[in-house]
Amino acid sequence: MIKVITYGTYDVLHYGHIRLLERAKALGDYLIVGITSDDYDKTRGKINNQQSLIERIAAVKATGLADEIIVEEYEGQKIDDIRRLSVDIFTVGSDWVGYFDYLNEYCKVVYLPRTEGISSSEIRAEKRKLVIGTLGDGMLCQKFIREMQYVNGVEYKEIINSLDDVDAVYIATHPSQHYNDVKSALKAGKHVICESPIALRIADYQELKELAQRNRLVLADGIKTAYSTAYSRLLVVAKSGRIGNIVSVDSVCTSLSNGAGEAGADLSKKQNSICAWGPTAMLPIFQLLGTDYQSKNIVSKIIDEKIQFDGFTKIDFVYDRSVASVKVGKAAKAEGELIITGSKGYIYVPAPWWKTDYFEVRYENPANNKRYFYQLDGEGIRYEIVAFAKAIESGKESYYINNDVSENIIKIVEEFYNHNYTGI
Ligand code: CTP
Repeated sequence: MIKVITYGTYDVLHYGHIRLLERAKALGDYLIVGITSDDYDKTRGKINNQQSLIERIAAVKATGLADEIIVEEYEGQKIDDIRRLSVDIFTVGSDWVGYFDYLNEYCKVVYLPRTEGISSSEIRAEKRKLVIGTLGDGMLCQKFIREMQYVNGVEYKEIINSLDDVDAVYIATHPSQHYNDVKSALKAGKHVICESPIALRIADYQELKELAQRNRLVLADGIKTAYSTAYSRLLVVAKSGRIGNIVSVDSVCTSLSNGAGEAGADLSKKQNSICAWGPTAMLPIFQLLGTDYQSKNIVSKIIDEKIQFDGFTKIDFVYDRSVASVKVGKAAKAEGELIITGSKGYIYVPAPWWKTDYFEVRYENPANNKRYFYQLDGEGIRYEIVAFAKAIESGKESYYINNDVSENIIKIVEEFYNHNYTGI
């Protein structure tokens, strides 16, 4: 029996795929189809498949051409599969000519002519594009615009006078303007993704949320860390009991702002520590321990009273069975690490943890330590855009940052602006 294997993503299955599978099957007696997992695709730069792995598997199965379907999850798996399954022929379309010649050592390699004029990318792009404009800080907007080009189905359009030409807006203005900017965009019928905190007062946030819901618009919290693969895995590992019960979550985020801390510096256009870093630093705490803390204590070093600019802030949370701490600074520097202390071990994310692509689970006996690495492209921004576009398309809230977390971040920011902190 001649065994043939072929691999692909098979997103929105089209006749190019079917013709490939038919010819692959004709090369032998038994056809194995390897379908790429979403995570593996991400590492290959394919970040916005329209269909989930399960849907893609179902579509290939429905062709009746595959005798066996497997999932391709990691680089180098092809060799393992070919050996394990005693494959005689490896085949893919001619867009890969030469690329898999190294497999000749293990089996015969055949490149089949690709069907002209059709591809999953084109089918995805045919759908109407989501046009996104940006408002605010030059650098953040530039990053966002640059990342948009990696997401198919979205297109950037500069906002000149009005929001008429866009479907959605990314807002990165000064936090004190967020409420007004988000409100105007929602009133104009536009979906919004706004840098966190979306507002400085709970009541304002709730009003914006209601406005979005009433008009069936998405209002997304723009904390990019939440969308990184390593960060998502870290949450799962921490919650799975691998480090026992979580005893403490401690996160530090600092970045020195030009002039902050120096006499006479104009900080009015800059973000203070609690706004610039508070949301990111609080994210793992609320996502791991919840928002039902018993008490909290905020300590701030204010460097400009008039605009309430904190050069450094420390927040301590006390929960029923655990504690947490946040240290954020624009005029103070520290190691930007995240440590999750557990009863059996701890998770360590090295600085800058908010651009997580790597973390370690460490134990008393270092021989048991485990390292995890996940590719992070574009600081998580492109995944954030994919999630935003998906939320708009499906009409469902993205599950990356839930409402309760956004609201509790704003609650702390509001307490700060209400002078509910100890000054140092
Ligand atoms: N294929 C083909 N003819 C096409 C499209 C794909 O023969 N018009 C083949 C590919 O060469 C590959 C398999 O089908 O062997 C699965 O390809 P996949 O990458 O999933 O499909 P594409 O349509 O090329 O996807 P994308 O546009 O996302 O790259």
